[in-house]
Amino acid sequence: MRATAIAQPNIAVVKYWGKRDLARNLPAVGSISITLSTLYTEMQVEIETGLVDDALLVNGAENRTLLARVSNCLNIVAGTDRPAVRVSSRSNFPIAAGLASSASAFAALVVAADAVFALSLPRAQLASLAGRASGSAARSLLGGFVELENDANDISVTNLLGATDWPLEIVVAITAPGPKPVSSGDAMEISRRTSPFYDLWIEQQAGDLAEARAAIEQRDLQRLGAIAEHNCLKMHSVMLGSRPPMIYWNSATVACMQTIRELQASGVNVFFTIDAGPQLKAICAATDAATVRAALAATDGVVEVMQSGVGEGARLLST
Ligand code: DP6
Repeated sequence: MRATAIAQPNIAVVKYWGKRDLARNLPAVGSISITLSTLYTEMQVEIETGLVDDALLVNGAENRTLLARVSNCLNIVAGTDRPAVRVSSRSNFPIAAGLASSASAFAALVVAADAVFALSLPRAQLASLAGRASGSAARSLLGGFVELENDANDISVTNLLGATDWPLEIVVAITAPGPKPVSSGDAMEISRRTSPFYDLWIEQQAGDLAEARAAIEQRDLQRLGAIAEHNCLKMHSVMLGSRPPMIYWNSATVACMQTIRELQASGVNVFFTIDAGPQLKAICAATDAATVRAALAATDGVVEVMQSGVGEGARLLST
């Protein structure tokens, strides 16, 4: 028995940074993201007779580092008395480099696991289970513009706009494809424990979410860009103020920010966001994507540029 699911990563315009409950991996703040269309992770889960322990292949190579996290996610979905499975994942973009690979991986994993174990869980529950594995993964269960709400006991995701309601393009400038030095989960905990800006970050998030929600509702790119850049730079200020400091940027990341500022000054409606890695994501109208792409590709230190529209939520491909 086997099931294959696909999910796309999402890029947060109002970020999740910090955990309220480590054991259940509940985020300390809500967040808003855009699900991408062209980057993806396909996840196959197969129940194999005679298999004793779970096995994991990532892009064709055995991966023992991620296996524990994958097994744990499967236990959360199907219980610990489930049969062992062979899991195989394939992504068309660099993993663990601040490109939200855990989001697409765990979103696809819960959908494939739900099918292979014949659970038929509602999407809301799948989102909550994916969030236990990786907070941002919950958002990839839905397409378009997604808000993750965070109440006392659980998380929930809602659609602010569908995948075709506001056809923006996301241009990703890769400045270093290798894995990041500190995982976002660990870095969040360092921030919570040591950053003097952490409490202020948490306190201001409701206001940032309301502002982004209003901008999305009005499809006002400039308004969304202003709050998204502010929220992103505030999150990085929390990281920079932590001990030890977490500096995810390299010189090309900074050069890309400068490129976006130059584009903005020349009248292009575009904004940037950066996650826990050195890649910059630029968000603009479809009509401006070629200009933004060319400018980022010509920026010193950019090794590759990827582009995506707004995509659908995680879904089953085959059983
Ligand atoms: C900076 O979802 O990777 O991308 O729950 O520990 O797996 P875990 O964290 P993760 O964190 C994402 C952080 C971020 C911002 C965001 O996507 O909202």
